[in-house]
Amino acid sequence: MDSIRIQGGVALQGKVRIQGSKNAALPILAAALLAEGQSVLENCPRIADVYAMISLLKDLGCSVNWQGKGLCIDASGLCCREMGSEAVRGMRSSLCLLGALVGRCGQVVMEHPGGCVIGQRPIDLHLEALGQMGVVFSEEDGRLLASADRLRGARILLPFPSVGATENVILAAVLAEGETLLEGAAKEPEIGALCRYLKACGAQITGEGTGQICIRGGRSLKGTEFFVPADRIVAGTYLFACVGAGGSVLLEEAPWQEMEAVLRTAEDMGAKVWASREGVYVQAPARPGAVECICTAPYPGFPTDLQSVALAVAAAADGDTLIRETIFEDRFRVAEELGRMGARLEVQGPESVLARGVEHLKGARVEARELRGGAALAVAGLMARGETTVTQCKYIERGYENLCRDFRELGARVTSA
Ligand code: UD1
Repeated sequence: MDSIRIQGGVALQGKVRIQGSKNAALPILAAALLAEGQSVLENCPRIADVYAMISLLKDLGCSVNWQGKGLCIDASGLCCREMGSEAVRGMRSSLCLLGALVGRCGQVVMEHPGGCVIGQRPIDLHLEALGQMGVVFSEEDGRLLASADRLRGARILLPFPSVGATENVILAAVLAEGETLLEGAAKEPEIGALCRYLKACGAQITGEGTGQICIRGGRSLKGTEFFVPADRIVAGTYLFACVGAGGSVLLEEAPWQEMEAVLRTAEDMGAKVWASREGVYVQAPARPGAVECICTAPYPGFPTDLQSVALAVAAAADGDTLIRETIFEDRFRVAEELGRMGARLEVQGPESVLARGVEHLKGARVEARELRGGAALAVAGLMARGETTVTQCKYIERGYENLCRDFRELGARVTSA
């Protein structure tokens, strides 16, 4: 899918099922390296980032294949410790293979991991934390070399609750000698999912979901079946699509317990939102209202991954909304493209943008430059008058199984090319 063409101005109606979570599936795929025998991941999303991770695992000698609804991973054939492929450079979450591989083999060689172009995204917290567990790092021809003669548990304090660094410590710690106490850990629900998977494999972990996680290492792990939870970011994207485009929808299986800040923001914009056993119902206001400030923060705060989508809605809200981004620098690249659609956005530096709500966005040809910004442009297209074409949709495919199909299911007039 190169581009998406959207005839905007159609209110959304009906229901859509929310796919499995990208950010839960990726570290769990890395964790499967640590288990003996086969793991089967059900509800694993069929997205480009998962395909890239599968190809990395295969390069390392694992057997990975889809069987029915499940993805089967067997790491008994793991033979290689070197990751040099394109997939590493294009995908930051390949970084969690660092913790897993160093735990399993004691040695890793990898390219510097890539990911979305949203700021510098250094990896110092990962290196510092793993270093405390006995991993020694060096660099050779731009590649990162990691080795540990003896991986040992440690008391680690993260100065910032990095999601990836928390995952890497957990992954390294489950096979390390002794106990690891991780303080200042990230509390994102995807870390809970990773720990549930590892515990189902036999790991001993307590405190996940809090800032202090304790991992008792050294137990051998056995592959297991695991159901990947629904994606709260995809659910939030469709929620804001409804708030912006109008209508009423049911987001089937949306993980509302993990979406408090997002649901509250939608309500502040005038939507009626209620959760039930089936998922989340959303009823949009006639026009979204402005919100004084939407400020991203580590979980349970408003997720940075939904900042661009919220910005698209705020662009056509009734009044001014200040959006503050506190997690990533350079995450307002989408503002320029939204400007082509008639949005009046005043970028006030790397941390904030003031959206001066316009009556209507208008259709335009715009380019996705990264995953969530791309999804935000598609949402803006649903809200706009006239036709919008979003190009470079390969970025959107990194995280959404089929955005066009899902929007069509909600009655939108969307085609892909
Ligand atoms: C994960 C998510 C991503 C989400 C982000 C924040 C996955 C696959 N990706 O990314 O979708 O947007 O959490 O919720 O789960 N940082 C450092 N040094 C480090 C590590 C991070 O300075 O060593 C900084 C980053 O540059 C960024 C901030 O910390 O400014 C947050 O990064 P982190 O929580 O690590 O995000 P990711 O794990 O990369």
